[in-house]
Amino acid sequence: MHKTIIVTGGAGFIGSNFVRHLVDKTKLEKIVILDKLTYAGNLGNLEGILDPARVIFEKNDIADAKAVERIYQKHRPDWIVNFAAESHVDRSIDNPSDFIETNIVGTSILLDKALKYYGESDAEHKKTFRFLHVSTDEVYGTLGAEGLFKEETPYAPNSPYAASKAAADHLVRAYYETYGLPALITNCSNNYGPYQFPEKLIPLALLNAIEGKSIPIYGDGLNVRDWLYVEDHCEGILLALQKGRPGEKYNIGGSNEKTNMEVINTLLGFIEEFSPAAANTALSSKGIKSYEALKTFVKDRPGHDRRYAIDAQKIKTELGWQPQHNFQTGLRATVQWYLSHLDWCREVQSGKYQRERLGLAQASD
Ligand SMILES: NC(=O)c1ccc[n+]([C@@H]2O[C@H](COP(=O)([O-])OP(=O)(O)OC[C@H]3O[C@@H](n4cnc5c(N)ncnc54)[C@H](O)[C@@H]3O)[C@@H](O)[C@H]2O)c1
Repeated sequence: MHKTIIVTGGAGFIGSNFVRHLVDKTKLEKIVILDKLTYAGNLGNLEGILDPARVIFEKNDIADAKAVERIYQKHRPDWIVNFAAESHVDRSIDNPSDFIETNIVGTSILLDKALKYYGESDAEHKKTFRFLHVSTDEVYGTLGAEGLFKEETPYAPNSPYAASKAAADHLVRAYYETYGLPALITNCSNNYGPYQFPEKLIPLALLNAIEGKSIPIYGDGLNVRDWLYVEDHCEGILLALQKGRPGEKYNIGGSNEKTNMEVINTLLGFIEEFSPAAANTALSSKGIKSYEALKTFVKDRPGHDRRYAIDAQKIKTELGWQPQHNFQTGLRATVQWYLSHLDWCREVQSGKYQRERLGLAQASD
């Protein structure tokens, strides 16, 4: 029986959705969130679920070895799930060092201290202990018009973000192969849903639209991503913890391949349905008649991967995972959530970031 889980990065987008999922769907006695609260982590994402008796917050850095060891000893987890990361590709282009420090060094510290803790556990605890590392499909690089990423696809990361995640994945694998730490990896496609920081495509485009600001479309807008509603990702991770085999990796994706242009067009359709442009003074004050008119082509991201698409057959067959949302239902719910949480949007952007364009790698121009 699993009693305690540590969720690193639990104040971020997917991590906070995962904590909610655990609260709703499991009988875990203690859920400990370990998060440094970078610009992307917010206690507001955990509103209503922190509870000193069950859902506990520990503000710390996963790259702080002493703190990680102390938190493992204090809470004695049965499961550790690592979401903590620098996660925005454009930021990794501007400044890779934070990505190396958190995504690689931080993960190695989590693993190292987990191995020590695991080594000191009794036989019963060892049987059920799991370390699950949450990773991305970006480690596989880019696809042409055909084909899907499988678990066996060789790694070929193209951005500093993807390279840092790939390095972390290799360390997780090595801790299983070399030391026998019962570790697993999940590699998921692009997520969307509530609590995503408005630097990523969907919330950024949505907020720019309702504020009458231009909606940047990188390159020709035809790069393809395979979109998954965040709750479906969370369920996949939970199943991997409950039923996954240590040493294995599982790809997670919803078979929702869309070009960025298709994503923006569908999104603008839902915004028009819930908040029509004709009644939006942010647009009318600028003489703009439709959300469509805000679409603006901008210079492409350097090294922009053309297409990602996941083969999720393994997690479906072995663990019984099935996504519950398609792109239409998931995106509709997401738009409704953002439109009813504009205070949250304002709060999380109250720091330095104001949706400006990042990641143009000026030095190489
Ligand atoms: N967003 C996606 O589409 C997607 C897809 C596949 C995989 N992933 C992976 O899932 C994980 C979560 O992604 P997300 O989109 O929720 O990211 P996010 O940027 O929204 O959240 C990251 C969280 O990690 C915390 N954090 C950052 N550095 C830390 C450190 N040194 N110590 C402790 N906490 C730290 C932040 O405060 C934040 O709460 C990442 O590992 C990412 O690579 C994301």
